[in-house]
Amino acid sequence: MTQHAVLPEGFEGIDLHALAEREGTPLYVYSAPALCTRMRVLHEALAGLDAGIRYAVKANSNGAVLRLLAEEGAGADIVSGGEMQRALRAGIAAADIVFSGVGKSDAEIVMALDVGVGRFNIESRAELEAIQRLAAARGMVARAAVRINPDVDALTHAKISTGKAENKFGVSIEEARSWFDAHAQWPNVQLDGLHMHIGSQLLSLAPVRLALARMAAFWRELQAAGHGIASIDVGGGLGVRYREGEQAPDARDYADAIRAALDGFGGRILVEPGRWLVAEAGILLARVLLEKQGQTRRFLVLDAAMNDLLRPSLYEAWHDIVRIGDATGRERIDYDVVGPVCETGDTFATGRELVRCEAGDLVVIHGAGAYGASMGSTYNSRPLPAEVLVDGGRYAVVRRRQSFDAMIAEECRAEAWRTT
Ligand code: LLP
Repeated sequence: MTQHAVLPEGFEGIDLHALAEREGTPLYVYSAPALCTRMRVLHEALAGLDAGIRYAVKANSNGAVLRLLAEEGAGADIVSGGEMQRALRAGIAAADIVFSGVGKSDAEIVMALDVGVGRFNIESRAELEAIQRLAAARGMVARAAVRINPDVDALTHAKISTGKAENKFGVSIEEARSWFDAHAQWPNVQLDGLHMHIGSQLLSLAPVRLALARMAAFWRELQAAGHGIASIDVGGGLGVRYREGEQAPDARDYADAIRAALDGFGGRILVEPGRWLVAEAGILLARVLLEKQGQTRRFLVLDAAMNDLLRPSLYEAWHDIVRIGDATGRERIDYDVVGPVCETGDTFATGRELVRCEAGDLVVIHGAGAYGASMGSTYNSRPLPAEVLVDGGRYAVVRRRQSFDAMIAEECRAEAWRTT
């Protein structure tokens, strides 16, 4: 899929001006065909392997998106009880759910045991012991994988790098080895899997190959020592092209790297893509509130802000921004594209060349399908935006715009004073 194939004016046969008029802005718009295409491309790339796709729900946790991916055969990679419930409600079988995350609470572990999630990806000795204790209390045996921290530099933004020794994720191969050697200590945990996830928005496969090689060597060592390994979960992280000229890896090359590293492995292979499946299938539609010539810079103030799409503020992430509509005779101008939130960090782009915009114009922020709505907040008391799914010239609202009342619904006056 090439980026922006569906734009500028229409998005999957939907007139974006009319859509913005009807549903308001800011508005997340997702393409159902683009989501399905990505699933199929990945399935094809993995063909011949006994591989399962465990979609990383955090990338876009909208129920309609989850249902669509589930219909295309995705299971789920979850990191919280909330994501577990979302996955189950979307019709994903508990057996097709893997539970990752560095801090699972007892309540979440119990919920996962009760519903029968497929596998825990264990990230610490304390977690291993908690799962043993809680599974034993229920007379159950939990299936689990050890998340290895392979200590490789994923060559991505530091805030989304997870596979270096100094990161909080996973355990060293030495520690994992000691767990396998002492596995009899945890009779209610069937430790028969390996897991890794070295980071997100990986634009080079070199770190993936290095990490896979380390994990594969460990699997061979365990096998030789008589420890059966039933599954190897290679994590997510496959990057996408946010920006013209950026080179993102091809899914087939990624699958080939897995194929090569795990040659001879007879168990199940799991992959946990998030971004790659959903990023380019989504846009954020926003309206220009005003143009402002500051003392030194020219600002374009949108009605979308960092609370709607945090990535540029948090990671200095680039998202292509395009004004839609007839641009005949319009000059091009360098804008700082910002939102209305009261922080200088509420900036989508700095010195970005766009066709001249005026109040009321619509702009599209590309690549917003992943880590967009799912990272949204109501900061500055801005209600969460609406989300729509488009397909075959029609659209469906898949999340209503949050009302003011819904935004403050859980707040109460300080009336019911209690003592502990
Ligand atoms: N598996 C695990 C255990 C993860 O922690 C993650 C993402 C994934 C899979 C999916 O990674 P992906 O395929 O989407 O790269 N908010 C950041 C990205 C954070 C990723 C966190 N973990 C962003 O907007 O760039």
